Amino acid sequence: MMPAEKLPTNFRVEIEDGVALVLIDVPGESVNTLSQEVGAELQELVEKLEKDPAVKALVFAGGKKEGFVAGARIEMLQAVKSAAEAEALGRAAQQGFDRLERLQKPVVAAIHGPALGGGLEWALACHWRIATDDRKTQLGLPEVQLGVIPGAGGTQRLPRLIGIAQALDLILAGKTVKARKALKLGLVDEVVPAPALLQVARRRAAELASGALKRQAPAGVKKVKLHGLVAAATQVALEENALGRGVLFREARKKLLAKTRGHYPAPEKALEAIQHGYEKGFQEGLAREARLFGELAVSDVARRLMEIFFATTALKKDTGVDDPAVKARRVERVGVLGGGLMGGGIASVTANAGIPVRIRERDDAAAGRALANVRTVLDERVKRKSLTRLERDQAMRLVTATTDWSGFAGADLLVEAVFEDLALKQEMVRAFEAVNPKGIFATNTSSIPVGKIAEAAKRPEAVLGMHYFSPVHKMPLLEIIVTPKTAPEAIATAVALGKRQGKTVIVVNDGPGFYTSRILAPYVNEAAQVLVEGAAVEEIDRALTGWGFPVGPITLLDEVGIDVGAKVAKVMAGAFGDRMHAPEALAELVADGRLGRKSAKGFYTYGGKKKEVDHAVYDRLPGGRDRKPIDREAVAERIALQMVNEAVLCLGEGILRSARDGDVGAVFGLGFPPFRGGPFRWADAIGAGALLEKLRKLEGTFGPRFAPAPLLVEKARSGARFHA
Ligand code: NAI
Repeated sequence: MMPAEKLPTNFRVEIEDGVALVLIDVPGESVNTLSQEVGAELQELVEKLEKDPAVKALVFAGGKKEGFVAGARIEMLQAVKSAAEAEALGRAAQQGFDRLERLQKPVVAAIHGPALGGGLEWALACHWRIATDDRKTQLGLPEVQLGVIPGAGGTQRLPRLIGIAQALDLILAGKTVKARKALKLGLVDEVVPAPALLQVARRRAAELASGALKRQAPAGVKKVKLHGLVAAATQVALEENALGRGVLFREARKKLLAKTRGHYPAPEKALEAIQHGYEKGFQEGLAREARLFGELAVSDVARRLMEIFFATTALKKDTGVDDPAVKARRVERVGVLGGGLMGGGIASVTANAGIPVRIRERDDAAAGRALANVRTVLDERVKRKSLTRLERDQAMRLVTATTDWSGFAGADLLVEAVFEDLALKQEMVRAFEAVNPKGIFATNTSSIPVGKIAEAAKRPEAVLGMHYFSPVHKMPLLEIIVTPKTAPEAIATAVALGKRQGKTVIVVNDGPGFYTSRILAPYVNEAAQVLVEGAAVEEIDRALTGWGFPVGPITLLDEVGIDVGAKVAKVMAGAFGDRMHAPEALAELVADGRLGRKSAKGFYTYGGKKKEVDHAVYDRLPGGRDRKPIDREAVAERIALQMVNEAVLCLGEGILRSARDGDVGAVFGLGFPPFRGGPFRWADAIGAGALLEKLRKLEGTFGPRFAPAPLLVEKARSGARFHA
């Protein structure tokens, strides 16, 4: 009896006319990811096909609707115990792809859907790459976003294929590109419509086998490829010789450090691996890549970034309600009230998701402006090539504007984004209910308790908050606010809509400032406090950007509007008492007509070439123009601790459903430093006891506004963590 041949678990092979089509299909997963098991099976398969005389060439393609390979399995990385173990993983993958690249038979990568991380590294080791022009097709090496570097040859093969400058651009930022851009970069050899992919791939494989088409030389022996099609002559000259490359790497490192401030080691290490490969050769480059990959994989920063990644993937599966029986209603039509800054943005992300939107404005001129606002956002996407002109026109056709209530009876959900005024918002609820007996009413209020707005409703079960952030099309977070009366179905429906709009969605309970605005208030107040104590504006901003926030709190005040900040502070003080009182100086600045960027007069000057501190602002502040130096580290921690302590209060009071949501909300809504993982991951990392001690000390110096949250005291006592 013949021994039964072991069939691969993760691959399907179809041999036809001398070409073996190898389809990757990891069972039980919606997307393909790489693991040791998949790697080992791939090796076996390649060896077998290499020996098979009936096979002249290979084609790799995704066997799932969801595409090629989305990267290495992150759970595998997370489970790694030591740097050596991670290095070995990288080494094994490198050797596998090296072998593939050196295969005598030509290998074609047929890419549809994501080819990211290890997925792209696999394709890079193939001899010909074809991508589909589908929206879902994306190529890139996003590893640095998880705190690691490409560990399967990516730092060596990519620059040799597309040029150093272009590769740095992709790898150091973890950027992904669509097929057209990939073609321009030389990252793929051709782009085809999705239905033609396999047919073209088979043909190319046959042509490569017959010699009709020339295959690419392995990266190790390839001459340094000069960058892109439109490379400036100077760029080419730079990359061609060692001296020029030295300049290029030095410049890149300088720019990088200015951006990361040393908080994110991965891009620096990626740069090191690339540079090493050019100085010492391809094989040495691979060895360095694997070593650095190993070191990074077990670093704290990588752990925090991976945790955030898992938190967002968990949120993608979260319906927003705990009862699994609750199902979202399908939203076919959306209404938007007020097509200003926020309403225009909300309408654009809705239309971009393929959902018809109707905007209601006050008059014809405002309705015209609303449509123009939507158009501006979509045009920007066309410019950034994330949308084709055709797709923009299709989206634009889904948007209509009116000044009456016509067309709102059919809206499944309405987002209200009129002025921040309780009476006006209540009037909107009544008017909507009068024309639409079934739809959900969502308010985009940034500070009014949703329950107050719902008081005007006949159907409070259909009222909730959908708090978007500005600019809506760029900010990833959507905070959904529910009252005790909101129906679970309404919550699930709003959550599902937010996801279709491309948002990361958290659901929080109603309360003054909800979650994000609430934890932002004491943070900004504390910064203002440091200012009235005599610190300089730029010193405070630098302290917090140095701590890892994307912008400093004083700049933030200017951007949001000092008047808006003062108004929110008043609301918060009304709700929480003294501890949330903003320094009086803010109101004085507003009275002086100093509103921030919008009035071209804030803490900084606007309109000039360079943004500079407006020293006149000090004339209205205690201490005058003579500012005192600060200890940046201590000041940053003092201000950030206000946010963290408030977040713990929110968890203790049940505003938050989980610590996970609190981390995601702070990172994606407020720019809490991702490498710290969010307030709760940070608290866990330094320990509740240590955090409590810091707060007690500040409480001793500055008073009760630093009183530790009861839940923190409890955690410090029990030794439990916020995250299980
Ligand atoms: P905006 O002033 O740009 O837009 C408000 C729009 O509502 C205007 O176009 C106005 O013509 C329209 N409007 C006023 N009354 C109306 C009515 N009766 N019927 C139809 N349209 C009417 O203001 P923005 O910034 O878009 O804010 C809107 C809401 O979003 C506010 O509640 C605000 O607190 C909230 N929000 C604002 C954020 C921001 O960063 N600007 C962030 C999150 C929420």
